[in-house]
Amino acid sequence: MTQRSTVILGTGSYAPERVVTNEELSKTVDTSDEWIHTRSGIRERRIAGPGETTSDMGAAAARRALEAAGLTAADIDLLVVATVTPDLVMPAAACLIQTKLGVPSTAACFDLNAACSGFVYALDTACAMLTSGRYRRALVIGAEKFSSIVDWQDRTTCVLFGDGAGAVVLGTTEQPGVGLLGTKLGAFGESAELLYVPAGGSNEPATAASIAARRHCVKMKGKEVFKLAVRVMDEAARDILEQHHVRADQISLVIPHQANLRIIEAISEYLELPMERFFVNVDRYGNTSAASIPIALDEARRSGRIKTGDLTLLVAFGAGLTYGSALIRW
Ligand code: UT7
Repeated sequence: MTQRSTVILGTGSYAPERVVTNEELSKTVDTSDEWIHTRSGIRERRIAGPGETTSDMGAAAARRALEAAGLTAADIDLLVVATVTPDLVMPAAACLIQTKLGVPSTAACFDLNAACSGFVYALDTACAMLTSGRYRRALVIGAEKFSSIVDWQDRTTCVLFGDGAGAVVLGTTEQPGVGLLGTKLGAFGESAELLYVPAGGSNEPATAASIAARRHCVKMKGKEVFKLAVRVMDEAARDILEQHHVRADQISLVIPHQANLRIIEAISEYLELPMERFFVNVDRYGNTSAASIPIALDEARRSGRIKTGDLTLLVAFGAGLTYGSALIRW
């Protein structure tokens, strides 16, 4: 039997218009452009406009990905959205995006929550469903309105995050050695409380008291998460390279989760791969969680940093704590 593999047919991304600079944030919390930039590499982030939702941003990114693939919504039979900030608790943002795009009612549509690793998890899930032969064309979207769960009075977190969306259209090929060559996923659930939202879920439904205590906002132990991010992303990158007998220097471009420039620089050092081989846009968007890798992937594609035959490595880390890496031959 011929082996099917998953290929990326098109990419797209969307960033809200409103740019919020470090300078602007320093007017509302006790921070400075100097602190934010030296500690994280972030200069500015995009924040969704009033009434602009995760599904609006996801749909905008998906339209661009469909256009790049030369396909329409009618061609899609699988729609997976990676997000921790869906418009509603239910139904899934995927169903709202389905309607916005006009994806047929015969398509499977669902959300997936693996936080900042969500896009790599969704890619792996869609890949398994496509290569099973039961689905033909998938839209995989990472979309976040992270500004909706940030505590804008907490300077240790509010300066780090932003909103946006990225998408890919996936299909299959029987051509050997191209497409999504492999993925490595995992999680450390025992460290979940290093990065979480305490209230608003079924454990602690939102009450006036929980809202007043700002327990529906993100809490993060930044230093601990930082150390784990460096170690785990380095390991996830090494594991997938080893599994596929690829040396780090054979990778043309690494697209890491964009949380902190210092994390990316540490991974570059550990893998002994120069920073020129790493795609970085954290300075312009901050951490957009599940949207970070697909936005970067789209920008890398459109700016000509990925060419046919290239090997690209994706590597992510986020709440859960989850991690994921993926190897793609274009
Ligand atoms: O998406 C995946 C998960 N997220 C991450 O990967 C993020 C991981 N963590 C980080 O990126 C970094 O830990 C941070 C950027 C969050 C913080 O950098 P740090 O070098 O670990 O700083 P710190 O938390 O140790 O804080 C140092 C100081 C503290 O003051 P004291 O206790 O030394 O007096 C903080 O109170 O900086 C203070 N501080 C700030 N000062 C100005 C914390 N936030 C700010 C701020 N502006 N925004």
